[in-house]
Amino acid sequence: MKRRHLLSAAAASALAGVPLGARAQAYPTKPITVIVPFAAGGPTDALARILCQRMSEVLGQQLVVENVGGAGGTIGVAKAARATPDGYTLLFAHMGTLAVNIALYKQLPYDSQKDLEPVGLGGTNPMVLVVRKDLPARNLGEFVAYVKENQKKAQYGMAGIGAASHLGGLMLNSMMKVDVLEVPYKGTGPALNDLVSGQFDYMVDQAVNVLPQIQAGNIRALGVSTLKRLPQLPDVPTIDEAGLKGYEVTIWNGFFAPRGTSKEIVARLNQALVTALGDEKIRTRLTELAVEVPLPQEATPDALRSQLKASIDKWVPTVRAAGVKPQ
Ligand code: MLT
Repeated sequence: MKRRHLLSAAAASALAGVPLGARAQAYPTKPITVIVPFAAGGPTDALARILCQRMSEVLGQQLVVENVGGAGGTIGVAKAARATPDGYTLLFAHMGTLAVNIALYKQLPYDSQKDLEPVGLGGTNPMVLVVRKDLPARNLGEFVAYVKENQKKAQYGMAGIGAASHLGGLMLNSMMKVDVLEVPYKGTGPALNDLVSGQFDYMVDQAVNVLPQIQAGNIRALGVSTLKRLPQLPDVPTIDEAGLKGYEVTIWNGFFAPRGTSKEIVARLNQALVTALGDEKIRTRLTELAVEVPLPQEATPDALRSQLKASIDKWVPTVRAAGVKPQ
C-alpha cells in the first residue's frame, strides 16, 4: 500500500473509533463558507455579516460570506443545496428564494424543504416603500395616482424574480392595479445605489438596507409594509393605513445547511447562532436596523422548518392569486 493510502486508512480507522458527538465537538476545524444568494451590500448580506462575525468568535473559525447573486437568489441557493453536507458550506437566505418563488418559477433547481436542513432563524425584517428623492408624489395617495398616470414610463427596482423586493413590489403593484416595468438587479444593494441616483422610481425593500439612505435624505419613504409603524420612522404611515388596506409583507432570513448535514453539526451551528442573537451589542445593532431579533425558541431548526412551511402555505397561493405567471 502506498504511504498516502496507509495514512488515510489510519485516519479513517482512528475516526471510526471516535463517537459522532466527539467528532462534532471538534467541528469546525477550518473556515466555513456562508453563501448569500444576492450581491454584497444589500439586506441579506448585511444581516449575514453581522451574525457571522459573532458566530465566528463563538465557533473559533471564520464564517466567510460568499455572494452568489443572480436569478432572484436561485443560483446561490442551488449552489448551497448541492454542496457537500459537511458543515463547511452554509446558506443564509430569505423566504423569497425559499418559499415565494415556488409560485414564480416553472422549475426550480432545488426543493427548499427537501434539499436543505434548517439551522435557525436570523431575523425578520419589515420593508419600506422608498422612492427617488425627486419623485413628485409626497404621500402614498399621490404615489398611487402618479404611478397610474405614468404606467408607460414608471419603473420599479427589484432583486430578480422571487426576491423579497419582487414580492413587496408585485403585491403593491397588484393592489394599485398597475403594470409597471421591472428593473432587475443581483441584489438591492446595487439597486439602492441606482435609486439614490434617480435611475428608477421606486422599490419596496427591507428596512435594514434602506434606513440609512432614508435618514440621510437621499431617498424618501412613503409607507412601511407592517401593520404597525416603525419606531425608526415614526412619521411614515403603514401602507395599510395610508390606503392600500391589507398590504402586509415581512421577510424572514435564516441559516440552512445542505441536506445530509449531521444533527450534531446543525446543533453546534444553531448554538453559535443563538449565542450571537443573545449578544447585547448584536441585538442593539439589529434593533437599530429595525430587524426583529428571534427569541431562542424561535431560532431552533424545527421552528425554522415550520416557518418555511408556513410561508410556502401562505405565499404560494397568494402570489398565484395575484395573477403572476411562473416563468
Ligand atoms: C431581495 O430583494 O430579495 C433582497 O433585498 C436581496 C438582497 O439581499 O440584496
